[in-house]
Amino acid sequence: MPKKKVVLAYSGGLDTSVAIKWIAETYNMDVVTLTVDIGNVKNMKEIQARALKVGAIKAVVQEASDDFIKYFVWPALQANAMYQGIYPLATALGRPLIAKLLVDVARQEKASAVAHGCTGKGNDQVRFDVSVNAMAPDLQIIAPAREWHMSRDEEMDYAKKHNIPVPTTKRNPFSTDENLWGRSIESGVLEDPWTEPPAEVYQWTKSPSDTPDKPAYVEIEFAHGIPIALDGKHLESVAMVKQMHQLAGLHGVGRIDHIEDRLVGIKSREIYESPAATVFIQAHKALENMTLSKEQIRFKDRLANEYAEMVYNGLWFTSHHQDMAAYVQSTQRHVNGTVRMKLHKGTSSVVGRKSEESLYNYQLATYDKADTFDASASIGFIRIWGLPVQNQARTQLLKGRQSMPLALTEGDDAKSKK
Ligand code: ARG
Repeated sequence: MPKKKVVLAYSGGLDTSVAIKWIAETYNMDVVTLTVDIGNVKNMKEIQARALKVGAIKAVVQEASDDFIKYFVWPALQANAMYQGIYPLATALGRPLIAKLLVDVARQEKASAVAHGCTGKGNDQVRFDVSVNAMAPDLQIIAPAREWHMSRDEEMDYAKKHNIPVPTTKRNPFSTDENLWGRSIESGVLEDPWTEPPAEVYQWTKSPSDTPDKPAYVEIEFAHGIPIALDGKHLESVAMVKQMHQLAGLHGVGRIDHIEDRLVGIKSREIYESPAATVFIQAHKALENMTLSKEQIRFKDRLANEYAEMVYNGLWFTSHHQDMAAYVQSTQRHVNGTVRMKLHKGTSSVVGRKSEESLYNYQLATYDKADTFDASASIGFIRIWGLPVQNQARTQLLKGRQSMPLALTEGDDAKSKK
């Protein structure tokens, strides 16, 4: 009987290299590796060669940057998705795509299992496993780092024993993940929330103290909520994101230091570098403020939270997601126009916006002569608008008193009476 096959998500690092050998030994399976490039892989050929050297029977590589931006990043941008209002979700958005490609390759290779390098502690294992189960419940999932119970030293010994190349450079003291939408950095000294992140944590952004004294201005043109041009120059999506990383990073924009609640509620200190996401989301919101109504903005803002939770919690392949995506998509019909951003010393600010579909109407907004707003109509409107407030104040709040008490609760009231 031929051996069973497993497709392993392979980064080329020590953990997943050891995993190739470990799975082959422990499960007696043939290992096919899959390396997906979503803006994180610099040396594809080398990684491929290493997988084969360590013992993979086949090393598949896939460039998926365009799909990542088109199907994951732009929809998240249209939704203004930021987990806990601050994390643009780079890592969380990458996982379902890698899971999908793992399943696709598993089908092509007639494999009976997929494998990934996640530990048994974080969010990423949940995102992988839940996504794989959604697409292919028949596939077994193997997570060596969750199963092997090896310490770092034991892992190094295992690697040496099996002729697996161990990194010769100094070990990265942090756990990092990176893709086109941002970098995530955790562990090491960062686990002390009082410690300022050391300079080497940051690789895409300059320290604001080392950035140019002169601010940079950049004009971002959006079509249906998606950036299509920078300073009037049309760019493909991947180039667009890369260029914004460069520019915003040069001005120190996009550093995030956050105490985050993991999926299971454990708090964790996370550092992110997301220069492009920071600027694009800010600009996108500014354009929405100009092209969506008050009600659309209010409702969509609530949805942004729910959408971010969905992404963070590994629920990408769900109907709840499809429903939210349909709403978000619909809201972007008129989100067309250009936003002017100023980048300076670690901050980005919106300094201008224009749109042919702008709902901003100078003649309604102005306090100048051009005013066309009928102020006399305000009197009747306010009388009716305030009627229920007046009614409630009389019957409940004032209760026959001459003046409104300042204390809002009974307890405070009692205290203030003493
Ligand atoms: N806390 C972030 C998230 O759950 C980032 C995880 C980063 N992963 C890593 N291997 N460092 O999305």
